[in-house]
Amino acid sequence: MMHIFLIGYMGCGKSYWGKRLASSLDFEFIDLDELIEKREGISIPEIFEQYGEDAFREREQSALESVKDLKQTTVISTGGGAPCFHHNMDRMNAMGKTLFLEANPRILKQNILKSDEERPIVKAIPETELETYIANHLKERLPFYEQSQLKVNVDGLTLDNLKRLFR
Ligand code: S3P
Repeated sequence: MMHIFLIGYMGCGKSYWGKRLASSLDFEFIDLDELIEKREGISIPEIFEQYGEDAFREREQSALESVKDLKQTTVISTGGGAPCFHHNMDRMNAMGKTLFLEANPRILKQNILKSDEERPIVKAIPETELETYIANHLKERLPFYEQSQLKVNVDGLTLDNLKRLFR
């Protein structure tokens, strides 16, 4: 089964675009963070709080591995850190197509502030420092994101543009 993995920093729109892409191609959709929450029976922020980030990364890897058992072609939105741990980029590249949703730190900050999703990684960063934090963190993560087979900038992105990548 060749799945489609959406990759990129928090707030780049992986779930937003993933859902739309999946329904327009008539594929299934899964949000990896939601899958982890379902498997563990607790929320992502609770996993971070109770067990720490390393434990979260292990659960994330294991949830990602479980994707290979899916019987339908699926669009999978991954957490922003997923590509950067436990050789997950290799894992995803082997299981299907990987698409990096590129966005600049200003847009990422806006989207993070707009959403009501709780994000443990940036929770403690004051708003005035958030854009700088994102810029630096993104730079660290780029070498992983850039291992994606496909890349598109979310600025002005349309569903048609996105669909065209998979024709
Ligand atoms: C994380 C991103 C989150 C979630 C977790 C850690 C990260 O997903 O997996 O809070 O390390 O960037 P989103 O990218 O959907 O916010």
